[in-house]
Amino acid sequence: MKVLDRTREVMRRDRVFDFMMPKVVFSPDLDTRHGPILYLEGVTVSFDGFKALNDLTLYINNGELRCVIGANGAGKTTMMDVITGKTRPDAGSVYFGQKIDLLRMSETDIAQGGIGRKFQKPTVFEFHTVYENLELSMAANKQVWHTLFARLNGEQRDRIDRILELVGLVEERHRLAGVLSHGQKQWLEIGMLLMQNPRVLLVDEPVAGMTVQETERTAELLTSLAGEHSVVVVEHDMEFVRSIARTVTVLHEGSVLAEGSMDEVQNDPRVIEVYLGE
Ligand SMILES: Nc1ncnc2c1ncn2[C@@H]1O[C@H](COP(=O)(O)OP(=O)(O)OP(=O)(O)O)[C@@H](O)[C@H]1O
Ligand SMILES: [Mg+2]
Repeated sequence: MKVLDRTREVMRRDRVFDFMMPKVVFSPDLDTRHGPILYLEGVTVSFDGFKALNDLTLYINNGELRCVIGANGAGKTTMMDVITGKTRPDAGSVYFGQKIDLLRMSETDIAQGGIGRKFQKPTVFEFHTVYENLELSMAANKQVWHTLFARLNGEQRDRIDRILELVGLVEERHRLAGVLSHGQKQWLEIGMLLMQNPRVLLVDEPVAGMTVQETERTAELLTSLAGEHSVVVVEHDMEFVRSIARTVTVLHEGSVLAEGSMDEVQNDPRVIEVYLGE
């Protein structure tokens, strides 16, 4: 009976990790020589005739930190859904680097191929420690799932230590993720995404529900990630956007209304009319 239970346990684990196993890892071949790492051109998404994205053309440069703002329903989340393969557009093209056609890839392959996404609600393993959460996310992408049953090697431990430091959770490493504050959970999830070494990080409303200090810490964290990663941040908190933004894209009714520095877009009469001036 005991043996049977153990077998079940192992089989269940196998099933869990099977779908997480990487099929392709193309990040090293990514062609960003022309500047952009993401190309969205003429992208249209219709829901029952309503265009959530309407001929959207947008480029994200390699290593940049881009903020995307816009009123509720402007299409910001839908844009992320298209990049990550969750929603398929009716028209347009979406490329990762110059050559990788994201519209021909599954959602899983896109995630494993170097585009990480942080949803608004933190999704950490509450009954595992912070450290174990990072271990598990390394397993998800790097074909090292067997390390869950063995010891991590020195390089892997160093990597986890680096990420713990980066996201400011060194002190919390042995605490259960479930007892962390909302902000700490968000950072842990960012850390978990980083374990998979993504080239692009898409972050939807990261500071919603955070305290002022947590918001400031998140601004520092996202700023520090740019360069090595390309980071796309959707956020309604304008003070936060101002504190991190270099280039801001304003979406309106599924297309780009304006793009530029925070000052430029805030002083753009069209933006004032439809969004900031409301
Ligand atoms: N699966 C869906 N089915 C039908 N309509 C949808 C679906 N997803 C999004 N929409 C609609 O598309 C529009 C754009 O939604 P989206 O979630 O992209 O906006 P958003 O800019 O992220 O807004 P918010 O700031 O409120 O998060 C909205 O009008 C929304 O109701
Ligand atoms: Mg949204």
